Amino acid sequence: MRNRHAKMDEELQVIAYRLESKSPQDVLVWAMEEYGSSLVLASSFGAEDVVLIDMLHRLAPTVPVFYLDTNKHFKETYETRDRLQERYGASFLQVLPQLTLEEQAAKHGDRLWEKDPNLCCQIRKVEPLQRILAEYEAWITGIRREQSPTRANAKKVEWDEKFNLVKFNPLADWTHNQVWEYIHQHDVPYNPLHDQHYPSIGCEVCTRQVMPGEDPRAGRWSGFAKTECGLHK
Ligand code: ADX
Repeated sequence: MRNRHAKMDEELQVIAYRLESKSPQDVLVWAMEEYGSSLVLASSFGAEDVVLIDMLHRLAPTVPVFYLDTNKHFKETYETRDRLQERYGASFLQVLPQLTLEEQAAKHGDRLWEKDPNLCCQIRKVEPLQRILAEYEAWITGIRREQSPTRANAKKVEWDEKFNLVKFNPLADWTHNQVWEYIHQHDVPYNPLHDQHYPSIGCEVCTRQVMPGEDPRAGRWSGFAKTECGLHK
């Protein structure tokens, strides 16, 4: 049944233009009506993702949620997953890398993330993402334009050139404050590390605290000239 849209065709461009001025909830409802069981949400249980999980629970509870389990997430991230599953009566899909940490160390050496973080992200995040997305026609992510220059042009609906499917970024134009207002207003469970100077949370071995005044993503792959792991462009 793949693909309703095989690229950013004219029809999709018109829809994207129309949805650009709509609320995240309107975008989610449209995505659900259009893609049904071919739609999936990618979650790392960060602030944006918990907002989307809550919205979907209210509007389209059948949309599956997956997380790329690198085996190196913070304990707090796994606990947040568990609290969300309990709160929403959900079961999130765990997507694992093909190599265990032991197999990765045997093949590429110990602590690959210190020597070659790109290869580590490729093995533990990008390849698993490619595998899961091959089963869907559209995915939803929590990226926001404000997060980084590489995301400044993100649209609410776009064609994902890398993974060849439609990408929904319903929170693209939301601010940090809007995200947190929603979380508090709806009492959404969130990762407690956000309260300890971790605005952006990835693997424990590649994420550090951010000091006041620093860029919110400065804590990701700190010390490397790397700002994205390859999930988004
Ligand atoms: S990353 O590419 O630098 O890791 P970031 O942490 O900002 O991304 O998250 C942006 C969006 O990518 C999230 O809102 C989520 O949709 C998706 N994402 C990031 N990490 C994961 C993960 N481990 N599992 C599933 N989705 C993820």
